[in-house]
Amino acid sequence: MSAAKKRVAILISGRGSNMAALIEAAKAKDYPAEIALVVSNRPDAAGLAIAAQHGVATAVIDHKKFATRELSDAALDDALTGARIEIVCLAGFLRLLTTPFVQKWRGRMLNIHPSLLPAFKGLDTHARALAAGAKTHGCTVHFVVPELDSGPIILQESVPVLPNDNEQTLAVRVLAVEHRIYPAALKLLAEGKVALA
Ligand code: GRF
Repeated sequence: MSAAKKRVAILISGRGSNMAALIEAAKAKDYPAEIALVVSNRPDAAGLAIAAQHGVATAVIDHKKFATRELSDAALDDALTGARIEIVCLAGFLRLLTTPFVQKWRGRMLNIHPSLLPAFKGLDTHARALAAGAKTHGCTVHFVVPELDSGPIILQESVPVLPNDNEQTLAVRVLAVEHRIYPAALKLLAEGKVALA
């Protein structure tokens, strides 16, 4: 590949299975992005150890140590800038970001959400899909804009909701798709095949 790989940071708060899928995908020679940094807002996030095992640099920016959201976002932005990050992937990052931070990374920040947006924004998406009697459910990768789970969609894929599903069985089926479409969406952005107008 001729063009330099885009430097990507992944922001996590917990388990980090989407992060791991992105790290794996980025190992391919012809993948247009490299995972240069993983940042967690929680010191105990399990994903930190997984990133380290893969040789990816990690940082903890513990929001509890900052007086305001503006200050913790400024520290986050410093870490990203210091690592010359070009694209940010939110992957189970359970913090609302300030509007100035989101504006700064506009068009360069993605999120994965476990529903077929615009349905079921917010939390507990699998339980809510089941409660609503949805026949299909799924996941979405979208650009991040200030309004929660509302940015333009890059990729979305559905899974069936089966008669005996519970929250866990449905989550497993959706997660397998998440791990496939997030690397595919990041590839599209890193190659300049999608952009936020
Ligand atoms: C995923 O379901 C993702 O869609 C949502 O939070 C969960 C994070 O899981 N935003 P993991 O940390 O990537 O395993």
